[in-house]
Amino acid sequence: MQDNKKTEDSLRVLILGDIIGHPGMRALFTSLKGLKKEHKADFVVINGENAADGFGLLPNQVDEIFNYGADVITTGNHIWQKEEIYPTLDRVNNLLRPSNYPSGVPGHGDCVVEFRGIKLAVLNLQGRVRMSVNSECPFKQGLKDARRLRSITKNIVVDFHAEDVTEKEALAEYLDGKVSAVVGTHTHIQTADERILEGGTSYISDIGMTGPVNGIIGSDPESAIKRVIYSVPYKSQVLDEDAEIQGVLITIDSSTGRSTSIERIVYKSGQ
Ligand SMILES: [Fe+2]
Ligand SMILES: [Fe+2]
Repeated sequence: MQDNKKTEDSLRVLILGDIIGHPGMRALFTSLKGLKKEHKADFVVINGENAADGFGLLPNQVDEIFNYGADVITTGNHIWQKEEIYPTLDRVNNLLRPSNYPSGVPGHGDCVVEFRGIKLAVLNLQGRVRMSVNSECPFKQGLKDARRLRSITKNIVVDFHAEDVTEKEALAEYLDGKVSAVVGTHTHIQTADERILEGGTSYISDIGMTGPVNGIIGSDPESAIKRVIYSVPYKSQVLDEDAEIQGVLITIDSSTGRSTSIERIVYKSGQ
């Protein structure tokens, strides 16, 4: 679904998938500013949970990702793998971890950014189905967060970091009309089911990744195959090849908070 016209009330948000190690960071360094300009994006939101060699995110990478052109960094279950990031999660407003972790966990799950007088709220949630985490209910927490954020702005995008498509679609329907977009991350594989729900919430099950696409969800196949065959957690290595930048461009009517378009983005770095 495309709407490339930029009107005064329209807000264009580029939301990009999980950054996978050095290939993902390299692609952002060379291409993100150009991509932002090409798509006339007002904001860039990107999931950074795998930026540090596939596992977690380092404090210096947070600065780098913002310097490359991102406005907000979301994360997910892998954010806890580098403990150095914990104080940064508390300190940096535009760096999020899923909101529905139990209270007492470092960091916060939402933020509000502003450009040319228009505000955008970003909310990070995590699924509970096949995720091996004991987070709080994303439905109850998501509704509570969305209601609070709507008193600040109607423009709200949700990164729902989850494995299960049923849970993802259910959350999108549950929050339809209350947020502008629910986009899935975590599987690293972009789906082709983007659509706008009845209440004006745009949805896609997974936006994909900012990483090497010829491996196994970003990893070198050799170790990944052994992990699957033998059920032994052999260390997975990020596949060393040029990354694709995958995600979606969402257009929001900022007078209503409704999405007017959702378009999949696949950019091959080096093009
Ligand atoms: Fe990921
Ligand atoms: Fe994840």
